[in-house]
Amino acid sequence: MKSGSMHTSRLTFRPLLKSDAANLFMMDADPLVMRYLGNNPINNIEEVYHYLENIKQQYRNNGIGRWAVIENETNAFVGWAGIKFLDVLTNGHINFYDIGYRFLPEFWGKGYATECTKAWIDYAKLNMNIHELFAITHIDNLASQKVLKKCGFVQKNTFPDSTHGEEIDCIWFELKW
Ligand SMILES: CC(C)(COP(=O)(O)OP(=O)(O)OC[C@H]1O[C@@H](n2cnc3c(N)ncnc32)[C@H](O)[C@@H]1OP(=O)(O)O)[C@@H](O)C(=O)NCCC(=O)NCCS
Repeated sequence: MKSGSMHTSRLTFRPLLKSDAANLFMMDADPLVMRYLGNNPINNIEEVYHYLENIKQQYRNNGIGRWAVIENETNAFVGWAGIKFLDVLTNGHINFYDIGYRFLPEFWGKGYATECTKAWIDYAKLNMNIHELFAITHIDNLASQKVLKKCGFVQKNTFPDSTHGEEIDCIWFELKW
């Protein structure tokens, strides 16, 4: 999906834009958000611009990547969610699709991650020629693990992951159809 948008009852998804930079910076500078992501909050908006360039390249190369999540009722920026193509060897897998989400804390606890994940699973089933999705969470990120299990993912092995810099102990999840 290279353009357009997707909707659920409470949320809208669209490609991330340069105008999202301030919100992305607020999110990734928050230690609470980064607690299970290598615990490395950012302190420079240039890192966000670099991230956005990287995302744009993923949209071009893979036709997919994380998308902005907008709350329908308020039009507020919630965070991002979606499917990313991973071509880095991770837990013995390479060239696979990973589902993920990251929100500003004020939007936690409303069921939004579950709503997003179900929508992106439906998207993958309908629009992508794949029969499996994967996800990775920190071993202590119970909220994220709960989201994945509620959406049908099966918990597999634990493994050390250095995607976010510092090596962290993670759990591998799979969903097959
Ligand atoms: C992980 C995250 C996306 C969850 O978003 P969310 O919208 O609050 O998730 P949902 O409301 O859909 O579901 C969370 C579930 O976990 C539960 N939960 C929340 N915190 C929990 C905790 N500390 N221990 C156990 N369960 C917890 C909630 O009760 C809910 O379950 P329920 O529906 O049975 O009540 C959000 O916390 C976040 O953005 N965290 C920072 C970034 C991050 O860690 N991303 C994931 C990386 S793998």
